Amino acid sequence: MKIAVMGSGGWGTALAMVLLENGHDVTLWSYTQEESAVLREKRENPMLKGVPLPEKLHLTWDAGCVRDCGIVVLATPSFAVRTTARSIAPLLDPGAVLVSVSKGIEKDTSLTLTAAIAEEVGEGHPIVALSGPSHAEEVGRQVPTVVVSASRDRAAAEQVQDLFMNERFRVYASDDVVGVELGAALKNVIALCAGICDGMGFGDNTKAALMTRGLTEIARLGVAMGGRRETFAGLSGVGDLIVTCTSMHSRNRRCGILIGQGTPTRQAVQEIGAVVEGYYAAATAKALAEKAQVEMPITEAAYQVLYQGKDPHAVIHELMTRDRKHELEDSWV
Ligand SMILES: NC(=O)c1ccc[n+]([C@@H]2O[C@H](COP(=O)([O-])OP(=O)(O)OC[C@H]3O[C@@H](n4cnc5c(N)ncnc54)[C@H](O)[C@@H]3O)[C@@H](O)[C@H]2O)c1
Repeated sequence: MKIAVMGSGGWGTALAMVLLENGHDVTLWSYTQEESAVLREKRENPMLKGVPLPEKLHLTWDAGCVRDCGIVVLATPSFAVRTTARSIAPLLDPGAVLVSVSKGIEKDTSLTLTAAIAEEVGEGHPIVALSGPSHAEEVGRQVPTVVVSASRDRAAAEQVQDLFMNERFRVYASDDVVGVELGAALKNVIALCAGICDGMGFGDNTKAALMTRGLTEIARLGVAMGGRRETFAGLSGVGDLIVTCTSMHSRNRRCGILIGQGTPTRQAVQEIGAVVEGYYAAATAKALAEKAQVEMPITEAAYQVLYQGKDPHAVIHELMTRDRKHELEDSWV
């Protein structure tokens, strides 16, 4: 199958390697000519060190590479997903399947990324979200990894499952696109918070509490927006939350650590040097929660630290001294 991967960051490159290994004819598209030239010259991506790029991987910065492709993978940061989809829309083959592998919510519209893509490419192109606990660095090293392929279109979800699946990269299928995409986007906010707590010197208790209560509020919003509660207990929910909150590969967590150690937010985001999706997702999640009238205290606290410069110590104190609650919303009814 001829496949284009749009976005040559760490994730696009790692997925291009999985597809190449599975015998597909893969082109990796870079946003700039310079980025593509570096890849061509070094045959290695600075965002994915130690993974040689074979000659049979085509490298380009010409968006025309999507022509004749049955599958087009969109692997840019979330802020660039719509513009990238718009630029390739007139070039797509009829029926080409689009696969969104970015994790975020569109800032201006609060749409999921597959919804933003659908607006740009119109009818006739099935759209799939591929997500789960998966660091590019580990997929690049062929560490066993398991993700989920979600689409309202069962045939497309299963086609993407088959295309990516191999003995080191297992893919489940799901029809809950909203649940999968929201889990992926919102856990980045919790990972930033986990990093902040690590940076402040808190321990495992705090992080476990943050992850558990974080997942509760993610699921609360996800269900209000049409996702299935069980999805948040799956790979793209708790699975991705665990990997992002506990690993040093997670740039969201690393950014949080810097903030917890006292680095101003903007400087911390810049120091990471790659997209910190949780920073953007905190603002959109807060807006979505307000719109859906859903309580998300941790996300709200993250917003206050990231956008209003509030001291994390004060925020933690406020979270810890909220009114007493029942753990399960429906207990003793
Ligand atoms: N890195 C991972 O382990 C991983 C895993 C799963 C999902 N993701 C998601 O994949 C997406 C991309 O992450 P990444 O790690 O590859 O990012 P990255 O920071 O490594 O690379 C970002 C890429 O986007 C390109 N880009 C920047 N501005 C652009 C624009 N305006 N239009 C088009 N392209 C532009 C850059 O040139 C660069 O190639 C993110 O949403 C991320 O959350 C990443």
